[in-house]
Amino acid sequence: MQRLKAQTTVLVGVTGGIGAYKACELVRTLTRRGFRVKVVMTEAATRFVAPLTFRTLTREPVATSLWADEPGDPVHHISLAQEADVVVVAPCTANVLAKLAHGRADDLLTTTVLATEAPVVLAPAMNVHMWRKTITQHNLDLLRARGFVIVEPGSGELACGEVGEGRLAEVADIADAVEAEASRVQDLAGARVLVTAGPTYEPIDAVRFIGNRSSGKTGFAIAEEAARRGADVTLVSGPTALLDPFGTRVVRVESALQMREAALAASVEADVVVAAAAVSDVRPAERSEAKLKKDDLPVAIALERNPDILAEIGAMNDGSKVIVGFAAETGDPVAEARRKLEAKRCDLVVGNDVSGHLGFGTDANRVWFVTREGAEELPVLSKREIARALLDRIAAMLRERRGT
Ligand code: C5P
Repeated sequence: MQRLKAQTTVLVGVTGGIGAYKACELVRTLTRRGFRVKVVMTEAATRFVAPLTFRTLTREPVATSLWADEPGDPVHHISLAQEADVVVVAPCTANVLAKLAHGRADDLLTTTVLATEAPVVLAPAMNVHMWRKTITQHNLDLLRARGFVIVEPGSGELACGEVGEGRLAEVADIADAVEAEASRVQDLAGARVLVTAGPTYEPIDAVRFIGNRSSGKTGFAIAEEAARRGADVTLVSGPTALLDPFGTRVVRVESALQMREAALAASVEADVVVAAAAVSDVRPAERSEAKLKKDDLPVAIALERNPDILAEIGAMNDGSKVIVGFAAETGDPVAEARRKLEAKRCDLVVGNDVSGHLGFGTDANRVWFVTREGAEELPVLSKREIARALLDRIAAMLRERRGT
């Protein structure tokens, strides 16, 4: 049900860390930026800052307990969850982070977060060793994969006297993240987007394969961002260690032939196809079902060409689909991207230079967007930022095609 509201409501969750005092500044900043702000505190947070402080700053009641409903408001955590357009937990302790990652709901804040359908921004703050623990980082990965927005802590001197990461992010950065969620564009609403991602594994026998170093990060970031912007996303992925992106339909495959089958099937209905997969160009001509004994291994493996999935989809395009390919090159990425644009009948090819330290497996990349109109060079960006920039271009092309 769409509720019409005069003012965007931000629910600020405050948990029990020393950074709780900075939540006062966050509340002021959000109020100044025009949001209606309500605060929920954990029991531990009230040891650091008094609820009265937030009540005075927000002029709204401050909720701290599951068992103290406002009069006339029978299920407080549900009403708070529905009222919020964006939820932000700042500071978010390691404990609350772990609870949210596993869907626990044992106090008002965690219950509200579990019950809300609003986007949730988390600004973790903790001791450097707690931050670096594998379990904490794993919880963060789980939360990211479930659509939570993480505003990473900064580095510096911590309240406990140690130096390192774990300091609550700058208040302005947290407020920016909240604002970005509040004004999240839904410019891909209704668009059906197919993304291919990751490497392919071409079997030699039951355990050996020919593969490549693609991590799948770019394609996964594109799929996740497209879903955030309202698209109906199918992600066909080769083997990767990444979790399913939030809000997408994921088809996991291994070989190029399997990827072709899944991608062609999904492409029929697609308005947009983004081929970010690093599909192996060749596969062993023969595959043994059993594991070959060391002595039976051939000295040379005969190879045969794999079909070019993107070229097949391009050849079938009647002009209604927006088709995007990738060109990872060690030579001239723009020239190669131009060649692929024509050869595979794409609308845009993302050229990237994998000769240096950027590219496969890294988090950042330098890319060019090459279309028939020309080439745009982008600065070194994270794969997520590249995904956003690419989707801006795709959304514009879709609008052009639809004449809107
Ligand atoms: O020709 P090349 O492999 O360099 O082209 C890369 C582009 O083509 C990428 O977008 C990749 O996903 C796609 N591709 C494909 N099927 C193949 C090979 C590449 O879809 N067999």
